[in-house]
Amino acid sequence: MKLMRAFSAMFFCFALLGVAMVNAQKVSKDSFGKTAEGEGVDIYTLTNRTGMEARITNYGGIVVSLTAPDRDNKYADVVLGFNDLDSYLKGHPYFGALIGRYGNRIAKGRFKLNGTEYKLAVNNGENHLHGGIKGFDKVVWIAQEYKSRLGPALSLTYKSKDGEEGYPGNLTVRVIYTLTNRNELRIDYSASSDKDTVTNLTHHSYFNLAGEGNGDILNHRLALKATRFTPTDAGSIPTGELRNVNGTPFSFLKSTVIGERINGSDEQLKFGSGYDHNWIVNGPAGVLRQAASVYEPTTGRVMDVWTTEPGIQFYTGNFLDGTLTGKGGKPYARRTGFCLETQHYPDSPNHPTFPTTTLKKGVTYKSTTIYRFTARK
Ligand code: GLA
Repeated sequence: MKLMRAFSAMFFCFALLGVAMVNAQKVSKDSFGKTAEGEGVDIYTLTNRTGMEARITNYGGIVVSLTAPDRDNKYADVVLGFNDLDSYLKGHPYFGALIGRYGNRIAKGRFKLNGTEYKLAVNNGENHLHGGIKGFDKVVWIAQEYKSRLGPALSLTYKSKDGEEGYPGNLTVRVIYTLTNRNELRIDYSASSDKDTVTNLTHHSYFNLAGEGNGDILNHRLALKATRFTPTDAGSIPTGELRNVNGTPFSFLKSTVIGERINGSDEQLKFGSGYDHNWIVNGPAGVLRQAASVYEPTTGRVMDVWTTEPGIQFYTGNFLDGTLTGKGGKPYARRTGFCLETQHYPDSPNHPTFPTTTLKKGVTYKSTTIYRFTARK
């Protein structure tokens, strides 16, 4: 009897502790303004148990800010972005946004599916980029905030109409952002369509682990678990070749300073104006495995990227030119942020040898990516 009482007391304590831990996470909702069409937009603040905070708006599913601790447990905002909705509405290079229906480029905005040729909106020279003129980064998502077992979460839903930006099929997309109590920003994507279509969803945060507005990212060290990448033509469309990174400035198999080789004479670096390429993540797609690790030496911040996707676009903010001013009042100059966009390879609908991006009618698309933050002494 005594033993039973001791056990139930212990159980009660654990239960209390559990409740206390769950209670420490927070989610709140505020108005973030209105779109040009007068649609109301909100901003959600997710705070996890350790004190990390993510602010996410349902306009474009944009992560507006994200704090992470350094080696002295000091938090800083590590993503580029703006303080107000109007700055996002004026136009920006996909800061923190959800990207769809197709992340990265589709050559000439054309592809064939089941014998029919589809013509997409063209918004990047002669090519289609990041879902077109009004991609998922510029639409208002239906949002629901909640507390999950893993941490505070935000569910975002968007119904993309048949024909939108030229794509076939009514596509229902759901993205769940969770700020886990293990200091991860976890993104779970799912989608389904009423007609065969193509889908390649990603997230476009620009990270600066020294803190947004705090100089360029060239002294960050990057490791990519990728033995091959997809070289492109001058318009950033993959040639179809899967090239081994050995002996090239594209080898990040050993952690390497980003700026070390970026201005070299390699033709691929010239085409991208720096790094703006898709690497093939080692290991089986569909399985959550580590793709990248980034270390910032002055603060000790580390970001590890895990994904189920077959590829990852590493982009060094080559087109930032100082004309946009960020949250802390500093202009975002060239290479002051980097992106690690987990994805299927660019232009897959025109490359039958690449892993397929066809989403069959009635089948559920699923993808998960985790950005995990730690600090090294
Ligand atoms: C992706 C593309 C880049 C660029 C950025 C946004 O990374 O590959 O070329 O368009 O998005 O500017």
